[in-house]
Amino acid sequence: MLNLSSTINVLSNHRSIRKFTEAPVGDDLLCKIIAAGQAAASSSFLQGVTIMRVTDPNKRAAFKEITGGQAYVETAPEFLVFCADLSRPMRCCATHGGTPYEGLTEHFIIATVDVALCAQNVAVAAESVGLGICYIGAIRNDAARSAELLDLPQQVYPVFGMCIGWPDQDPEVKPRLPLTVMLKEDSYGIDGEAEAIAIYDEEMRNYYATRSANIKIQGWSEQMAGLLGKESRLHMRPFLEGKGFLKR
Ligand SMILES: Cc1cc2nc3c(=O)[nH]c(=O)nc-3n(C[C@H](O)[C@H](O)[C@H](O)COP(=O)(O)O)c2cc1C
Repeated sequence: MLNLSSTINVLSNHRSIRKFTEAPVGDDLLCKIIAAGQAAASSSFLQGVTIMRVTDPNKRAAFKEITGGQAYVETAPEFLVFCADLSRPMRCCATHGGTPYEGLTEHFIIATVDVALCAQNVAVAAESVGLGICYIGAIRNDAARSAELLDLPQQVYPVFGMCIGWPDQDPEVKPRLPLTVMLKEDSYGIDGEAEAIAIYDEEMRNYYATRSANIKIQGWSEQMAGLLGKESRLHMRPFLEGKGFLKR
């Protein structure tokens, strides 16, 4: 039998944690975890990430409000906001007498991908020592206010937050799509997709109906219909353009 590495086991046992004990993470461990995040690969070695650690209780309360009342945003031992940051390399460009080329979609992608890779490294590092995490995309409900709270300059935008702490709950692992649906070989095709998703919908309905909290009756594809069938955060494009991103 295949001997899975402990890293694969950590990855496979991921589940978002939304209830934490009051025990602190501690500065040393937090810094080690964030340094592990920094070790992620970085496109063009841009390192286009700034992590904002939010400790001010008033700012925590404001983020809870922005996220529609997600209590753990205020109470988790640590709350980090991951920002895509082109301002730092642009300052370097100016230092060396260059004129930074602003608003390139390509640079936006590079910085945003850097953030995702760094954050996921942080998540895995945290989970590898028994901590729990929850990403918080809802800070983009009011991206402008999130940016203002953290004094983010031009060319920096908040991508998502992350709660970190010691788990005070033990939720079930959420089943993912069958591999046959998301892994394709050589040529994109959708043969067998509808049938496989129907089976997965059944698995998800069962998962939601029997899990220990927040029980509901819903398949995954219905969830997607709800998600993609409505507008979402239309303010993001003007917000990003206002911050100097996505102009060309
Ligand atoms: C970028 C991103 C943003 C997310 N935002 C939120 C959020 O605002 N609030 C929340 O409770 N969960 C949030 N989640 C967690 C997802 O709901 C969760 O990862 C997904 O349902 C799968 O469940 P699992 O993480 O337990 O496997 C987010 C996840 C990601 C990757």
